[in-house]
Amino acid sequence: MPASMLKVENLSAGYGPTRILESISFSVGAGRRLAVLGRNGMGKTTLFATLAGQTRRYDGRISIGDIDLSSTSSAARAHAGLGYVPQTRDIFPSLSVEENLTVGLKKRKKDAIEEAYALFPRLKERRRNLGSQLSGGEQQMLTTARTILGRPTVLLLDEPLEGLAPVICEELMVVFSELAASGDMTILLVEQRIQSALDFADEVIVLERGRIAWNGTPSALSQDHKVVERLLGVGGLH
Ligand SMILES: Nc1ncnc2c1ncn2[C@@H]1O[C@H](COP(=O)(O)OP(=O)(O)OP(=O)(O)O)[C@@H](O)[C@H]1O
Ligand SMILES: [Mg+2]
Repeated sequence: MPASMLKVENLSAGYGPTRILESISFSVGAGRRLAVLGRNGMGKTTLFATLAGQTRRYDGRISIGDIDLSSTSSAARAHAGLGYVPQTRDIFPSLSVEENLTVGLKKRKKDAIEEAYALFPRLKERRRNLGSQLSGGEQQMLTTARTILGRPTVLLLDEPLEGLAPVICEELMVVFSELAASGDMTILLVEQRIQSALDFADEVIVLERGRIAWNGTPSALSQDHKVVERLLGVGGLH
């Protein structure tokens, strides 16, 4: 399936009575890559969870292409092409890598699994290992591969590099770039490794206390040291 445009209009959301996101509006063109940055606790995960239908939405609209997803279930959003790779790397520790990939699939979609293995050859090598035996990087590959099996047209990646060794980070970023370059996916990336996110993205939004405090291109952000320091809390990019 070709990539789709994601549009978010005036979105406010939170948990029960606790409002976290306020009046968020942005769009990501089909096949484009958006980095979502911000310090800890600013609402990045809440934004992705809201797009995936896992929080309470108070106001606003979310659409993929022509499809309005605002009031639909998480399952309906996945069906409409939204793939969510959460920060928590949800895998089944007591199942093998291959079982993790096949569980929930209506029938064994062998081709799709081979495609996932082609993206992440390391998973093929470890296909009989249990989820609990995987390194952090391999767990991230597995949770990403599981989401990709659903053939999303819009992919949300929440801090995929968190806690991983630099060499694994590079390996993952190469795969994400390949997915984006294939023209099949619109990708939103939350990352604390700001330089990796800026190298990857076409556009950037920065969240501050649940609102968009800055938006623009990666090069504009890299040159704006004041914004980087104020909104990202770092003296320089790393
Ligand atoms: N389930 C929840 N119920 C109530 N409040 C929550 C819940 N999850 C997160 N929050 C609050 O929402 C705010 C935004 O949290 P969120 O996890 O979206 O931030 P984040 O930008 O992803 O942070 P991090 O960089 O640490 O992952 C925080 O104040 C957090 O305490
Ligand atoms: Mg988060």
